[in-house]
Amino acid sequence: MEDTLILAIESSCDETAAAVVKNGRTVLSNVISSQIELHKLYGGVVPEIASRKHIEKINQVIEEALKEAKVTLDDLDAVGVTYGPGLVGALLVGVAEAKAIAYGKNLPLVGVHHIEGHVSANYIEHPDLEPPFLCLIVSGGHTHLVIVKDYGEFEILGRTRDDAAGEAFDKVARAIGLGYPGGPKIDKLSKEGNPEAISFPRAKIENCPYDFSFSGVKSAVLNYLNSAQMKGEEINRADIAASFQKAVVDVLVEHTILAAKDHNMNKIAIAGGVASNGTLRKAMKEACDKNGFAFYHPSPIFCTDNGAMIGAAAYYEYKKGTRHGWDLNAMPNLRLGER
Ligand code: KG4
Ligand code: ZN
Repeated sequence: MEDTLILAIESSCDETAAAVVKNGRTVLSNVISSQIELHKLYGGVVPEIASRKHIEKINQVIEEALKEAKVTLDDLDAVGVTYGPGLVGALLVGVAEAKAIAYGKNLPLVGVHHIEGHVSANYIEHPDLEPPFLCLIVSGGHTHLVIVKDYGEFEILGRTRDDAAGEAFDKVARAIGLGYPGGPKIDKLSKEGNPEAISFPRAKIENCPYDFSFSGVKSAVLNYLNSAQMKGEEINRADIAASFQKAVVDVLVEHTILAAKDHNMNKIAIAGGVASNGTLRKAMKEACDKNGFAFYHPSPIFCTDNGAMIGAAAYYEYKKGTRHGWDLNAMPNLRLGER
């Protein structure tokens, strides 16, 4: 079989990224230009700044990705690009770039759903992983529990009713003065704290056992901080971080294992930025071992936004015959499974 080489572009949020991926699973290059330092000044992603920075960086990132992969545009079989969901101005930069390259080189254009990309990150380092499997997607903007029925085909079992898991990490981190992005900082600080020190709520939603809600635990942390401040009590930030993280991880693991049992799934994967969280990975692994489920997770670099995961997803879409026209537009609210 001929190799299929895809150039993949990702610019949905604050990472300008490009990758060259062979046959959906072999990453020849994965270049990521992060804007974190820039957005840190404002405590979160500023959409207009993100778009401008993507424009500045995108050509350079693509050139590097091609160079690292030792290929030229003439070697490619298709161009894949995230077209939603995400920040509209940020997405537009990647979409316009992908269209220009595909048009100029007469290549097929394959638009990719960002979340399908996150899920597909699992294919990169697990050549044996094939659908069907259960996947918990936890990122800054999304929290979904899905059955991956086939490549690019999802049955959504549960989702968050309010904040995404990563959003809760970021908000709590800000409240305890850790800055942006909060997830990795809470992950680190919690290693010095006691996860049993403070009992934060674990939300359950009646009749929807796979849905999530993180606004309650976030408010509980804020209330805890306010009340300590009013009483003039010292707070232990590491204990707060560890206890908050434990509350979130407990719920993520519990709902995932329940869904796996209810739907007879014996393969569980995690995806998205929060999937790089050490406590989540450990707890999910232990729960999977206990129940005899196989557990899959991408390396941290493939968990947070990157081009390689888009290349993996684009490959399976390409094989299925997905082709987008020159009218492909950025879709900030694109739903999973929608095309
Ligand atoms: O998937 P991602 O890069 O972007 C989105 O599609 O949203 O996820 C970013 C989110 C942020 O909220 C960040 O705080 C969180 O992932 N995150 C983490 C960790 N690393 C990134 N959360 C917890 N622990 C981490 N180690
Ligand atoms: Zn993402």
